[in-house]
Amino acid sequence: MTLRVGYIVGSISSTSINRALARALERLAPAAGIELVEIPIAGLPFYTSDFDADYPAEAVAFKQAIADVDGVVIVTPEYNRSVPGVLKNALDVASRPWGQNSFAGKPTAVIGTSVGQIGTAVAQQHLRSILSFLASPELSQPEAYIWSKPGLITAEGEVTDEATAQFLTDWLTAAAAHIQRYSA
Ligand code: FNR
Repeated sequence: MTLRVGYIVGSISSTSINRALARALERLAPAAGIELVEIPIAGLPFYTSDFDADYPAEAVAFKQAIADVDGVVIVTPEYNRSVPGVLKNALDVASRPWGQNSFAGKPTAVIGTSVGQIGTAVAQQHLRSILSFLASPELSQPEAYIWSKPGLITAEGEVTDEATAQFLTDWLTAAAAHIQRYSA
């Protein structure tokens, strides 16, 4: 059976290079034997504990979308050496109400691209720390820090460099094996 894997893009920019990377992963997913479906975060309200008594519909749908997939790929930018606020908010929404943490036991794999040469390495370490607290089994290796050079990945998700396409396919294959192991 084909694994159904959700993905979250941690940027709501209309020109997001991380969305382009996510599109590239979508294109490469069949080669890794998985189906990738987006779990959108742009419409989520800012989390407050006021939600807990009566969770907003968008947040309930978001948590259900996570429940419905075998694992989650998170494609994160690096903003000021951490994850963007929109992504942290989405993780906070998913983590509550207390006792209903959507990431508990849900396998995840993190990847990201930035215009900086370290390719979101610092943001990914922060993200791993959050996911660790949320009790999500994370793919530890291979790591994937993608340095975004002009034209490397088109807005439509075409990867113009063969070695990068192969690296991303291998990374997805490792992510799929990790998710398979924990979703069983
Ligand atoms: C950045 N950028 C950035 N890059 C990086 O490598 N390390 C960083 O700490 C930051 N910090 C940062 C803060 C803010 C507020 C912005 C807007 C940008 C540059 C970043 O890599 C670039 O804008 C990417 O295009 C962001 O990814 P998305 O949103 O296009 O997917």
